[in-house]
Amino acid sequence: MNIGSLWQILLLMLSSCLPYAVESRGGEKNILSSSSTGLANLTYVRTGKRLLEAQHEKKIDLAKGYLTNNDLENALKDFTQRCGNISRIYSIGKSVKGVPLWVIEISDKPGEEEAEPAFKYIGNVHGDEPVGRELLVRLANWICDNYPEDPLAAFIVDKVHLHILPSMNPDGFSLRKRGNANDIDLNRDFPDQFFPVNNEMSGRQPETRAIMNWLRKIQFTASASLHGGALVANYPWDGTEDKRRYYFPCPDDGAFHFLASVYSHSHHNMSLSKEFEGGVTNGAAWYPIYGGMQDWNYIHAGCFELTLEVSDNKWPPANELPTIWEYNKKSMLNLIASVAKTGIHGRIFSAASGRPLPGYIMIKGINYTVKAGRTFADYHRLLAPLENYEVMATMTGYKSKTTTIKLEKEAMGVDFILDPEVPNGENQLESECDCTCTTSKSGLQVMGSLWTTHMEAYFLVVVVLGFVCILLCRRRARFSFLRHRQQGGPKRPAVA
Ligand SMILES: *[C@@H]1O[C@H](CO)[C@@H](O)[C@H](O)[C@H]1NC(C)=O
Ligand SMILES: *[C@@H]1O[C@H](CO)[C@@H](O)[C@H](O)[C@H]1NC(C)=O
Ligand SMILES: *[C@@H]1O[C@H](CO)[C@@H](O)[C@H](O)[C@H]1NC(C)=O
Ligand SMILES: *[C@@H]1O[C@H](CO)[C@@H](O)[C@H](O)[C@H]1NC(C)=O
Ligand SMILES: [Zn+2]
Repeated sequence: MNIGSLWQILLLMLSSCLPYAVESRGGEKNILSSSSTGLANLTYVRTGKRLLEAQHEKKIDLAKGYLTNNDLENALKDFTQRCGNISRIYSIGKSVKGVPLWVIEISDKPGEEEAEPAFKYIGNVHGDEPVGRELLVRLANWICDNYPEDPLAAFIVDKVHLHILPSMNPDGFSLRKRGNANDIDLNRDFPDQFFPVNNEMSGRQPETRAIMNWLRKIQFTASASLHGGALVANYPWDGTEDKRRYYFPCPDDGAFHFLASVYSHSHHNMSLSKEFEGGVTNGAAWYPIYGGMQDWNYIHAGCFELTLEVSDNKWPPANELPTIWEYNKKSMLNLIASVAKTGIHGRIFSAASGRPLPGYIMIKGINYTVKAGRTFADYHRLLAPLENYEVMATMTGYKSKTTTIKLEKEAMGVDFILDPEVPNGENQLESECDCTCTTSKSGLQVMGSLWTTHMEAYFLVVVVLGFVCILLCRRRARFSFLRHRQQGGPKRPAVA
């Protein structure tokens, strides 16, 4: 028996007797501080052996009534059979032991790109925190069962692409431990903004790599990972530069506090927490961690990620799971919906061609850039409501545009139409517009030989031709622009 397993027993014991178990997101540091009374160490010294035996017995039933990894795989496959027209299943990779990391996507057009925000839920990051994976299966089933009658289910399916990874750590789950099969804590395995926790891609765990590759393919607007051992919605930053514990706000502190509050206030009693004001916390104010998935999402994947602690008890008896689901149901649904129901949304277009421009959205005073989608140039900028914002759209080769808006509680739509930087956009017009303007160049060359004899007449013809061409181009651009905009859903005010 090694120190590691002793600690695990200790932690498990703590998680069942403390009001909240602090080890869920982080661990060591906080456990030490919570055992600063000496109680934990003392308890272990005195009753270590007895505990171990008791734990062994408990271990046998720990997951009784929970879905096994096989059950989970079958549940997901059944789900896509039953709800085939609004879902698909895909794998983002495999665990150390070769278990596929299955994701279900729920949308009215699963697998298709749309000018809509995407949201992801990840459960079971820590193998010994299985409540999340159970909740996520229930969430998927609830949406399927209530679509399209329930307005919230309909909204989510129609307006959002929801991706659910119920278990990021199936090996840890089957081993009933926090880390993966290599004993690595996956929520410490991501590149960190301050400390090189593990900056070797090759040295990273397969589960971590799977997530990182996934986020290269899909642009998520927001997400949450589900943990157990406490009851709180945690938001960035998770770590401080000097490793000390204090409130360390990220540039989007307002938006994050808002999103975390959407969760806690929709929950049965998370917002009533005595430990955390409003049931939310800045990660570093709780305890700093490094190499976590949350901060990495925000910094590297343009995704606003929360870390949700959904149950004080890491292994509640399975018969309590339906109640825990009821407690979290509205929160989980409202958080997904908030990526389309709040914030600023729109698309960026070229004034010259009418085509979508995959540019950038910036907010004055917030040092963070949101990228528009590659295909539709749709952007989804989450922000705290009830404030004024100066919104700027940029794209290389185009003049930036800025507009000031007052964001209400509901989402707001703002499209941007950017002018090319080149004056009158001659080159832009030719290259981006399918019209026949390009022939005028060669036309001029042909005319060159006749230049001397009928100079004036040809000059006039060329000028008139050019003029007609530009007119045609403009009309086509406008037309194509209208057509593009119509694909973008409801009409929105445009900053032209
Ligand atoms: C527990 O207590 C022993 C002495 O009783 C001490 O050597 C050890 O460092 C303590 N461990 C922790 C984790 O506090
Ligand atoms: C999926 O099927 C259900 C039930 O047949 C139907 O009500 C719904 O409109 C379908 N949804 C889509 C997106 O086709
Ligand atoms: C929330 O409700 C659960 C179940 O009734 C209870 O165990 C827990 O202590 C409550 N937490 C808070 C913060 O009120
Ligand atoms: C903005 O954030 C970047 C990192 O994303 C940082 O390098 C830069 O110094 C920040 N700028 C300001 C003005 O804070
Ligand atoms: Zn955890």
